[in-house]
Amino acid sequence: MQVTMTINGERVTAEIEPRLLLVHFLRDQLGLTGTHWGCDTSNCGTCAVLVDGEPVKSCTMLAAMAAGHEVRTVEGLERDGTLDPVQQGFMECHGLQCGFCTPGMMMTARALLDRDPDPDEQTIREAISGQICRCTGYTTIVRAVQWAAAHEEGAEREPEPRSRTGPTAAETSTTQPRVTEPVGGTT
Ligand code: FES
Ligand code: FES
Repeated sequence: MQVTMTINGERVTAEIEPRLLLVHFLRDQLGLTGTHWGCDTSNCGTCAVLVDGEPVKSCTMLAAMAAGHEVRTVEGLERDGTLDPVQQGFMECHGLQCGFCTPGMMMTARALLDRDPDPDEQTIREAISGQICRCTGYTTIVRAVQWAAAHEEGAEREPEPRSRTGPTAAETSTTQPRVTEPVGGTT
């Protein structure tokens, strides 16, 4: 089947298998390997991309379901050679170690800041609670998002004081990556 969608601002038309998952379409067919694929259980969240501005676990969505929509991947964060504040924040605050979770974390953070430009620590932790990082302990990721919030265009805030509080992993945030129910199977 043929699908057309907008990916990182560019209109893309491609022939795909109806059963192809969005994560595989992005990685294997378009070469956008910044979106990672980390599990077969919809748990890790490293595959998160934005679909019409909402974070979605792209391993739970068929590429065909994205037809007609706007998809943004981690490759679309940097614009005209300038890093997104979220990318800069991860760099400034060492919000990564191995980096495997980082693309999904950054896309979810981007969606959060688009919706709430001044989130408190709890809100940030809830937003990323659908994603797993096995390296950082999450604290530096939270700092990175706080840094980004303080350095968004027009922001005049100082980053929140550093916190040593551990993650709460609340499951109710509306900014967690959405899990879609693929139609017709996932393989
Ligand atoms: S690859 Fe793990 S949730 Fe998508
Ligand atoms: S930095 Fe290694 S999984 Fe998060």
